[in-house]
Amino acid sequence: MRIAVMSDIHGNIEAFEEVLRDIDDSYIDRIINLGDSIGYGPDPEKVLTLIKNRDILDILGNHEQAALDKTLRHYFKSDARKSLEQTMRFLTPSLLTYLSELPEFRLFNMALFVHGCPPASCDTYLNYLSNRGIKNIFKSYNNTIAFAGHTHKLMLISYNGEAVSFHELNDLPVKLEGNIRYIVNVGSVGQPRDGDSRAGYVIWDTILNSLEAKRIPYDIKSTADKIIQRGFQQKDADRLF
Ligand SMILES: [Fe+2]
Repeated sequence: MRIAVMSDIHGNIEAFEEVLRDIDDSYIDRIINLGDSIGYGPDPEKVLTLIKNRDILDILGNHEQAALDKTLRHYFKSDARKSLEQTMRFLTPSLLTYLSELPEFRLFNMALFVHGCPPASCDTYLNYLSNRGIKNIFKSYNNTIAFAGHTHKLMLISYNGEAVSFHELNDLPVKLEGNIRYIVNVGSVGQPRDGDSRAGYVIWDTILNSLEAKRIPYDIKSTADKIIQRGFQQKDADRLF
């Protein structure tokens, strides 16, 4: 089975549509999205509608949680809070119902899927944890492979039962070893923060037991212009480039 895993679309329909076009050419059996589909970007309602229409397996991100529970917005930085408040103007009651039914994590094909950090955190950043912290995370659940988003960065972490290691992920398939456990940080579709502004997602081939990171160009300028037209902040537009 070939599974496409993506995260952090953040209301960016142009990036999302280009990623789906690439997925449609990549012999993918299942698409899984790790949350933060809204916030910052200009088209949250279009993104959520497309996720539903494409029957994508979806989970909650911290932006969805804060859309559903106002009290959580106090933990957001002020720019993120302002963007979420603007996002709320575009979410219909039926989209809010859709969000309210999303799980905090999923198990699929024996793998764990979560927004922030395995096993079930929506808001822990993997890239802020020490090696010891990551080791403790691996010890807290049993799945051989787990997928997370939230950092907006691409990262492959392995654990051999003793030590944690970090690996590059790029468009060359990386073969996974049978006796090693992995956490895959899949990057971001709609707002990468790793110096490459193209949309990012990951393909997991469960037969070949390999991972491949994809970067897909899209029309950033038209998304950035729409961010301003729809009343979001200049900063939300600037950080796409
Ligand atoms: Fe995010």
